[in-house]
This record gives sequence, structure tokens and C-alpha cells, in this order.
Amino acid sequence: MTNKEVKKRILSGVQPSGKLHLGNYFGAVKQHIELHHHTECFFFIADYHSLTTIQDAKTLSENTTDVALDYLSLGLDPTKAVFFRQSDVPEVNELAWIFATVTNMSFLEKAVSFKEKIEKGISASVGLFYYPILMAADILIYRSTLVPVGKDQVQHVEITQDIAGKFNRTYAEIFPIPEYKLDKESKVPGIDGQKMSKSYGNTLEIFAEGKTLEKKVMSIITDSTPVPDSKDPLRCNVFALYSLFASTEEKKALEEKYLAGGMGYGEAKKLLLAKINAHFEPARIKRKDLIANKGFVEDILKEGAKKARAEARVTIDLVREAVGMKKLS
Ligand code: ADP
Ligand code: TRP
Repeated sequence: MTNKEVKKRILSGVQPSGKLHLGNYFGAVKQHIELHHHTECFFFIADYHSLTTIQDAKTLSENTTDVALDYLSLGLDPTKAVFFRQSDVPEVNELAWIFATVTNMSFLEKAVSFKEKIEKGISASVGLFYYPILMAADILIYRSTLVPVGKDQVQHVEITQDIAGKFNRTYAEIFPIPEYKLDKESKVPGIDGQKMSKSYGNTLEIFAEGKTLEKKVMSIITDSTPVPDSKDPLRCNVFALYSLFASTEEKKALEEKYLAGGMGYGEAKKLLLAKINAHFEPARIKRKDLIANKGFVEDILKEGAKKARAEARVTIDLVREAVGMKKLS
């Protein structure tokens, strides 16, 4: 097989690292869900990667189920996309090992994400260092061609391109060189105005409801312009968040209210809260149904893994043959 014969295939992974927030949704999930209606997509829950930060069995397993529930309730159709758990395809580790043997240490030492995590105080395990290689194996074992990611993951896709090239030159032209596709919303602000992130504790969670969500929205930091005065929508976190949900006309109407003066930020926050609730209402209902039927969710993941594993096996056999090992099957 040569890379010219490979059809277009989109792949992305999401770590099961906690509750989904608006940043994750507009930065990643929404795009994933839109894509799978047009092109073949593989989406997986990156639980092997999460072991670099979560070392508690209950948390990992609960978070993994949570991500599955989130994606399915937000509209991922498992009959259209291959949706699975990374650890249900253990072949990916074999490929990662083979890739490790064609990857220079100095190359991984440049990985920004590794350096940043160390700076944040995450201990420097070998796994954390090896993380980009496992990610390259995730992408290439399914011979994926396009990888939608946030800015922080671009370097990992570039490392993947290099590893694919190095393997192809060393052994055989097995892998396509994948491209990345940058998410549209790269910086959704949190309630304090910094980038929304679990690690800053400034998130608005998609599946928070009622008073919990209301309190969070009401606590979004704004400036202290008095109610009667004109306000600048472009410098307001509430307006930035509202814009993610609003139509052009709705945005314009709120912009005019800001500029005219006479409106307090509390009013804008209420409009935002109503938008969030209306947007996620169907997903919240669906999520409750799915929670009552977790066996069904498990069946979807197992079915996805079956399809993913069949693809992975094809690649592993080609790779084994190329490096001088016997095929698995
Ligand atoms: P967190 O920073 O909360 O830990 P992750 O690093 O797990 O979030 O991000 C998962 C995905 O969501 C990535 O694709 C990332 O780029 C995207 N993402 C996270 N926060 C934001 C944000 N505030 N704005 C846009 N995209 C985001
Ligand atoms: N490292 C990615 C993140 O933290 C998750 C991930 C693992 C991934 N393997 C991948 C993303 C392969 C895209 C492709 O967001």
C-alpha cells in the first residue's frame, strides 16, 4: 500500500480529564460533531494519555464514561463516526514502541506541551515524555489524514508528521502524512476573563444546570461602569460568551444596548444564561436518558472499538512485515 491510496479520514482524541465546559465545546467538540456528518471520522477517548495525570481508577473510569455520555448527548451519531476508547485498541502501544525507535530524543525534548506541564508541577514521568509518540500512533494506526485540534496540540501533529516521514523513509511508504485542522474558537474566555480552563477553575460547565450555572454566570467578572453609562461590548466577557450563541441580529441588538447605556451587566448575564440553557437543553435531556441506560453506551464503545481495531490490525500487520516481524494474523 502507498499513501496515495489512502482515503480522507478524520481523527481526534479527547482526554477524559473532567467535566466539559464551554471552552471545550466551542473549541473542540462542536467542530467534531459537525465534521462527522460529511467525512469518515474516528473519535476516541484518550484514557491511556490521561494516565499521565490521573492515577485513580475510579476517577479515570468515571471520567471516561462521562466523555462518552457528553459526546453522545451533544449529537455524535455512532452509526456515522467510529467512537471508541483508546485502551480498547491496545495495538496502538505496539506501534508507539516501534515509532519510539525511529524518533530522536532531542526531538521530543522540544515539545512545548511537555515543558509546560512540567512547569505546572506535573511530575516528569517517562509516560509524559513519550506522550507525543503515543499520539502519533493514535493518528497513524488508523492512517488518518486530518486531525482537528486546538492550538496547544499542533506541535504534536507536527511531531506525528515527522515520525510518519521517518518511518516511511526507513522502512516502507505505509503512512499518509496527516494535516491538522485548527479549531475555530481558540480562546473562549472563562468567568475571570482568562482562557476558560479546568486548571484555572474559571469554567462554565455545559451540563451544570439551575442555580449552580446561574451563580457561575452571575459571577462573570465585568468592569465597574455604572448602569447609566455606555459600555464597550468588545471588552466584556459576557458579550464575548453571548456572541458564541447569538445570531448576527441578536449580537447587534445587544451591542446597541451596551453602547446606549442604561443596561446593567446583570441584564446581559441573564440573556447569556438563557442562551446557554436553550442551547444545551436537548443535550441535557438526552444525557439523562443515556445515564439511565449505561449498558447501551458501553455497547456503542465496544462496537466502535471493533471497527477501530480491525483498521489498526491492518496497519500493524503492514508495519510488522516492513520491520521484519511476523504478521499478527
Ligand atoms: P482544559 O484546559 O480545561 O484542561 P483541555 O486541555 O482538556 O481543557 O482541552 C480539550 C480541548 O478543548 C482542546 O482541543 C482544547 O484546545 C479545547 N479548549 C479548552 N479550553 C478552551 C478554550 N477556553 N477555548 C477554546 N478551546 C478550548
Ligand atoms: N493530546 C490530546 C489532548 O490533550 C488528546 C489526544 C490524544 C489526541 N491522542 C490524540 C488528539 C490524537 C488528536 C489526535 O487534547
